[in-house]
Amino acid sequence: MSYQNLLIDCAARICTITINRPDKLNALNRQTIRELRLAIEEASQDDAIGVVVITGAGAKAFIAGADISELAQLDGVQALAFSRYGQGLMTAIERLGKPVIARINGFALGGGMELAMACHLRIAADTAKFGQPEINLGVLPGFGGTQRLLRLAGRSASLELCLLGNQINAARALELGIVNRVVAAEQLDAEVNALAQQLAQSAPQALNGILNAITLGAEASIDVALDYESQAFGVCAATADMREGTAAFLERRKPSFGPRT
Ligand code: COA
Repeated sequence: MSYQNLLIDCAARICTITINRPDKLNALNRQTIRELRLAIEEASQDDAIGVVVITGAGAKAFIAGADISELAQLDGVQALAFSRYGQGLMTAIERLGKPVIARINGFALGGGMELAMACHLRIAADTAKFGQPEINLGVLPGFGGTQRLLRLAGRSASLELCLLGNQINAARALELGIVNRVVAAEQLDAEVNALAQQLAQSAPQALNGILNAITLGAEASIDVALDYESQAFGVCAATADMREGTAAFLERRKPSFGPRT
């Protein structure tokens, strides 16, 4: 598949998707959202891919939001459809079934912060800036931001960020639980690579079970969520990876996990 606005680099079970519109601070226009949906679909189908990293081209921006020049043209019905289209992308990322890391190298605003929040792990450069500035455009976050921010950072911080539209720095995003880690900008690649490599060498079906149990379980009753956990646990026991992991422990050696079994 060839993409106009994405760079895709897959090696050693790690697929890095780079949004490549640096002159527009990697803003999400419709074409880019369409391409991201396709790239996520491809990653979901490819057993050679164990981990996905999403980032933005250039040093300045991760993603500076939905493309405002396109947004400005939408009528109400089109905006409703656009919101659902963007939400579909974020849900596809969240439900990929393989770990997705947001490598946040700069501005993560509007749809950029929403995309980061749909990823499973968020690693930010200390120079990154976060915000939901849609209020300044006369709208609100429309790609799932009101709900994912609420679930990550709670009602108080979500209301403040969405109502005021202010930017916050990476240290504040860490305090609020919006990102997992903040590192010096020059350490970002090393940190993300180490994390991606660790995940790429982990048991795929166990990772899948963890993602499902935590992501879907968070929205379910405790009984249903515990059943997700038990089902996933049972599926793991049917894999060669569990045989290998337990045998390696008992034989005092490092396990070697394979692709999805
Ligand atoms: N949509 C479309 N274009 C965008 C964009 C967006 N969300 N964010 C930035 N750009 C474009 C700018 O229009 C500019 O293009 P141009 O050179 O053709 O005029 C280019 O990216 C560089 O942005 P610029 O504003 O000149 O950079 P800056 O350093 O002065 O400011 C930001 C950086 C991120 C603070 C500023 O671009 C901004 O506020 N962007 C919009 C953020 C936003 O509201 N996002 C939510 C959208 S729903």
